[in-house]
Amino acid sequence: MNDRFIKACRRERSDATPVWFMRQAGRFLPEYRKIRDKHSLIDICKDPELCAEVSALPVDILGVDAAILFADIMLPLEGMGVKFEIADGIGPIIRKSLSDFQSVSSLTTLETDSDIQYVMEAISATKKLLDSRVPLIGFCGAPFTLASYLIEGHATRDFIKTKKLMYTNPATWHLLMDKLSTSMGAYLRAQANAGVDAVQLFDSWVGCLGPTDYHTYVLPYSQKVFSYLNGREIPCIHFGTGTATILEEMRQAGGDVFSIDWRIPIDVAWRKLGYEVAIQGNLDPAVLLTKSDLIRSRAADILMRVGNRSGHIFNLGHGILPETPQENVRQLVAFVHEHTMSRG
Ligand code: CP3
Repeated sequence: MNDRFIKACRRERSDATPVWFMRQAGRFLPEYRKIRDKHSLIDICKDPELCAEVSALPVDILGVDAAILFADIMLPLEGMGVKFEIADGIGPIIRKSLSDFQSVSSLTTLETDSDIQYVMEAISATKKLLDSRVPLIGFCGAPFTLASYLIEGHATRDFIKTKKLMYTNPATWHLLMDKLSTSMGAYLRAQANAGVDAVQLFDSWVGCLGPTDYHTYVLPYSQKVFSYLNGREIPCIHFGTGTATILEEMRQAGGDVFSIDWRIPIDVAWRKLGYEVAIQGNLDPAVLLTKSDLIRSRAADILMRVGNRSGHIFNLGHGILPETPQENVRQLVAFVHEHTMSRG
């Protein structure tokens, strides 16, 4: 097994810096688009063999050091009684969004994996197809990010409905966050039982909060999700965007690896977090739309800031953009490997 990724999660030295990308199995890959022409996103997720094939594509094509399970943060919500669609180019849409205590009370909690058995089967199929070439990362949405979709009904820039409910109806907020954290904890534990080698908690939109609100309304719940993996050897990655000013609070919520975006230099973020955790990031995905000399110089800057310290996983600050040329991504993977190998 290529163990660069797991070694970096544990802050152990390895032969080269590991690389993987959020959305590495996505629309920027022509091979993925070909499969998507014939199947919907949900159909792929619910077909273990197809799901395994898609998860393994970037390992074969790009040479990345980890695979991420092909799924979506919205899937387990179906098991909680939520109806949603995923619209092309837009993202999740929930027509009956949550607005009051009544609607939150009627959500069920996932306690076993029986409602999302297909994800567990997809994990087994993917592990088998990968055949120990690289580790497999499982994941779930973090309570805050899921709550924001449930309350807003779709993606938003300002999170007004979410914040309004959080500030004016704390009983409803805390009930919702409690149900989400219990369900996601059980879901991640089921993924661990099914064989994933690491997990990532996606709190994509939590950067819209300041530190005090994070502390009061989010921290206990993200902490609760991680608590379901206590005592296991599985590394946990804690991801968010726009988190430069709340990193210390996120650190308290837990995680072995912190995934940061490009809005903060990686060395500054690592100093804030402390060197007892590993770090993942943080190239701006837009850089991959440019030319190889800029891509190399920006990647080299990140590697220079990390220096000789072990515990860095190279990634973008957020997902690969659909219009990214595949060749740029392949060259970036090779560059990070060669650059860090030659450094010894
Ligand atoms: O390669 C991978 O990253 C693995 C699979 C994966 C998907 N979604 C598949 C997918 C992962 C890890 C996710 C997580 C996810 N889903 C997040 C957290 C990460 C992030 O991007 O912040 C969020 C917020 C979602 C909700 C969601 N689903 C969004 C915002 C979108 C994009 C809408 C669009 O079309 O641009 C989706 C759809 C989705 N999920 C796609 C993929 C590959 C897009 C393309 C498609 O429909 O095939």
